[in-house]
Amino acid sequence: MSGQPEGLVTLADVQAAGERVRGVVMETPILRSDVFEASTGLAYLGWKCENLQRTGAFKARGAVNALAALSRSHPSLEVFVTHSSGNHGQAMAYACNLNKKKARVVVPSDAPAPKVAGLRRLNADLTFCTPTQKAREETCAKLLAESGGADRARLLHPYDDPLVIAGQGTIGLEILAQVGGPSAIDAVIVPVGGGGLISGVATAIKGLAPNVKVFGAEPLNADDAARSFHAGSGTATPLAHRPGMPDTIGDGLKAMLSPRTFAHIRTRVDDIITVTEDQMKQAMRLVMDELKVVIEPSAAVGAAVALLPEFRDRLQGCKRVVVILCGGNVDLDKLSSDYISKL
Ligand SMILES: Cc1ncc(COP(=O)(O)O)c(C=O)c1O
Repeated sequence: MSGQPEGLVTLADVQAAGERVRGVVMETPILRSDVFEASTGLAYLGWKCENLQRTGAFKARGAVNALAALSRSHPSLEVFVTHSSGNHGQAMAYACNLNKKKARVVVPSDAPAPKVAGLRRLNADLTFCTPTQKAREETCAKLLAESGGADRARLLHPYDDPLVIAGQGTIGLEILAQVGGPSAIDAVIVPVGGGGLISGVATAIKGLAPNVKVFGAEPLNADDAARSFHAGSGTATPLAHRPGMPDTIGDGLKAMLSPRTFAHIRTRVDDIITVTEDQMKQAMRLVMDELKVVIEPSAAVGAAVALLPEFRDRLQGCKRVVVILCGGNVDLDKLSSDYISKL
């Protein structure tokens, strides 16, 4: 794309990622439900099922793209290091296995058990740390230093990386192709954690379909992106979490925006909408009951915005909407006790 702000991922980057991930990641289905279209009054409500993606979340796209590109451009790299509550770590481990590289993953001690089990199944080398951003980053730096320096080891950040953002953006390309082109939908709703997913998807959507709105959805209890977005155009630095936050069942959405992801969001996203823990639980129940697919709490933010009447005004009149169901790696032991609320 010409005339892009410097440093932002471009549509061409996302299209190149699309070539790299083709045939390796799944082309996930878009489900529909007459019941949901009737209850919401939306003319089209599509559910892009990245919960059915390899490793159980969209994260496979970014990691597969990055590993494919870096294995070619920097063949001496043997070790990839990251910090992740589970989904990006699993995705990176999966992509490392495909490329015969070693995956070392820093895991916060409160990461959900099924995600840790998934990492182990993929033969990732795990190091646990206290669940703070600082501890995660310091432990990563230590592992990188131990693993033989920059020629041999590289950090694969969960979202603050152009190759990861471009890989996640392939969902946007796929949605437009599946729905029948840029004029077939009015909006896409995308969960926001550190902002890699929405940065990539917005790049693809605004590049090919500038009239389609991109709405972010995030837990109220981890609302750094919404507050940064609504703080006005004066600052390029995203805001941090409020004191005591994040405290949300959306364990994939606790990360904070980086200056890079905020730069994409400020210029390519139309709004960011916050969702309470109760609304997430209601939406989780509705989705699983009606669509018959398992989702993790992080996927419930977008579902809440599409399904619950209190958000109708926030959709700016959009009638044909796709929601990205970003992941399905839920702790089944907590499903009915902690995550699903009675309606
Ligand atoms: C299931 C799921 N959804 C959404 C996100 C948020 O993605 P991002 O950090 O790119 O905004 C994550 C991140 O871990 C995730 O695992």
